[in-house]
Amino acid sequence: MAFRSTVGVVFLACLVVLASSAVPKNSKRKPANAPARVAEDAERDAEITNSCPEDGYFADAEQCDKYYECRNGEIIEKLCPDGMVFNDYDSNDEKCDLPFNIDCSQRPKLQTPIPSLHCVRQNGYFSHEEPHECGKFYYCVDGKFNMITCPSGLVYNDKSGICTWPDEAKKKGCGAADVFQFDCPAVNETFGLTHPRYADPDDCQFFFVCINGNTPRRSGCKLGQAFDDVNKKCEWARKVPECAEWYKGQLTDAELDALENPPTPKPKPAGSPSRRKPNRPGKGKQVVVEDEE
Ligand SMILES: *[C@@H]1O[C@H](CO)[C@@H](O)[C@H](O)[C@H]1NC(C)=O
Repeated sequence: MAFRSTVGVVFLACLVVLASSAVPKNSKRKPANAPARVAEDAERDAEITNSCPEDGYFADAEQCDKYYECRNGEIIEKLCPDGMVFNDYDSNDEKCDLPFNIDCSQRPKLQTPIPSLHCVRQNGYFSHEEPHECGKFYYCVDGKFNMITCPSGLVYNDKSGICTWPDEAKKKGCGAADVFQFDCPAVNETFGLTHPRYADPDDCQFFFVCINGNTPRRSGCKLGQAFDDVNKKCEWARKVPECAEWYKGQLTDAELDALENPPTPKPKPAGSPSRRKPNRPGKGKQVVVEDEE
């Protein structure tokens, strides 16, 4: 489908060029009389009319953000908003998208960028200017930016426009060792294939999984739990000796009781347990959106 419409447009683009180059050529020659001129124009229009394969929207052969609308045989050249590219999956849809899922390798040209503060182009996702800010990026809409922070331990990946593990993002200065400051202990190959886990030395709630024994990824236990480095699993923090006090000041004993023994689905009318949600700032797993002006 995409191939078909692109081929149609290669053909189309040639005809557009032919039609425009025909103008100076014709103007050099003095028309003998008015009717002849009209006939010539009509002939040329007919040629263009016939060149529109069918009504719809067709990608330009060379420029990913340029496309053509064919309507009743008329060709209208159009441009996507800066930063977006034409989506040619269906010629009935006039659609421009961010470039992540669209293959522009065969039509790599783009319009001249219109940059604004933190936005390389008017629309899209752009890396933070500071290379060491691995997990921060900007989302730009019509030239207005929003700074977004990846969940803890993830790195903004330029190629996919999403937050990924540092070893997947392969960003210079943002490798697993830079982001986590954790080196997987050397192990033999057999043991490495079990993806061994190690407690995060700085945070009881978290641990590292060493993929194939050598690539760390940070992972967390649920609220109220800690990683038990002896049994290599998440356990209620109060049962892990070195982490027994971890939630002191963040959760009360009553709140920990409630987490450890979740209220039954049908609480008794009297003396039902507290429904107050424990709140642990800064440790959320959600993407944090900040407005920075
Ligand atoms: C690999 O290391 C593990 C854990 O240290 C050990 O139990 C195992 O015997 C070792 N295997 C080989 C083949 O050296």
